[in-house]
Amino acid sequence: MQERIIQFLKESDGYISGEEISQRLKMSRAAIWKHMQELRADGYEIAAVPHLGYQLVTCPDKLLGFEIQSGLNTKIFGKKIILLDTAVSTMDEAFKLGMENCPEGTVVCAESQSKGRGRLGRVWASPKNKGLYFSFVLRPPLPLNQLAQLTLMSAVALAEAVENISELKPLIKWPNDVLLGSGKLAGILTELRAESDQVKFVVVGIGLNVNATVSQLPGGSSSLKAAAGSSFDRALVFQAILRSLEKWYLKILHHEFSQVMDEWKKRSATLKKRIRISDPNGIIEGEALDLDEDGALLIRKDNGIIVKKTAGDVFILR
Ligand code: BTN
Repeated sequence: MQERIIQFLKESDGYISGEEISQRLKMSRAAIWKHMQELRADGYEIAAVPHLGYQLVTCPDKLLGFEIQSGLNTKIFGKKIILLDTAVSTMDEAFKLGMENCPEGTVVCAESQSKGRGRLGRVWASPKNKGLYFSFVLRPPLPLNQLAQLTLMSAVALAEAVENISELKPLIKWPNDVLLGSGKLAGILTELRAESDQVKFVVVGIGLNVNATVSQLPGGSSSLKAAAGSSFDRALVFQAILRSLEKWYLKILHHEFSQVMDEWKKRSATLKKRIRISDPNGIIEGEALDLDEDGALLIRKDNGIIVKKTAGDVFILR
């Protein structure tokens, strides 16, 4: 019901009378007043003037479940969303839910994380109310060696969602950093639970810098606000991401991963570039040639030998 009241308030140019809301929602004026109080407690600033009615002044800078789910229209991603004020890491929260057999596509999102983590043991800075820090649980029918598909599809979904809600054109650095210019806009972390080679569930975590300023983020980062010059409604950004995730995840389920790869390649910041890649086996330099059918990176070294990497840290040389 709060959702419908907010919708009315957003749609009306000026004030909307309590009488009109009460007629349209078939609810008493007293009940509407009570909902207005609840919305104010959620952080909405709503003006009330006798004989004129109500007007929405500002929306809270806080993610609200009904705003994200309203009109979302997904079947898997975000059917269940858990919003936390703070978490140590949403990866741990989602992992617990995965162990409890939560439905596929369950999302846990936190307004801030005290120990947000990134790939290769790095820290993910999570300034409060400034970004989207969330993890979701998937139960893909994929063998372990094809799970890279999920990170590549998440990167494509993130880049596409940003394109859909802005004029920005993000690129993807292998395997899954989403960049704006040379700054890192978003990162993706995949963790899993497997038993005797069988994947039980996968937790994919996404950190997206939305309204943080560059000074609130580690060096080398970007944010939607920093790149576009204005703030974004995080609920709308979240919806766009969940819809894109669903679209590209369904491609994987329908054995159409090649389409995900095509989209990834179109936005690649890595392919055809000279790169240095480091992993626990050492460092190599060469040209990033292509991805193989599972998303591994093929690099041609200066001696002509082609090596395949399934993980590692890429530095683009030129
Ligand atoms: C990376 O680029 O290294 C991956 C960063 C992933 C960060 C997200 S934020 C939500 C989720 N919770 C975490 O602790 N990490 C991921």
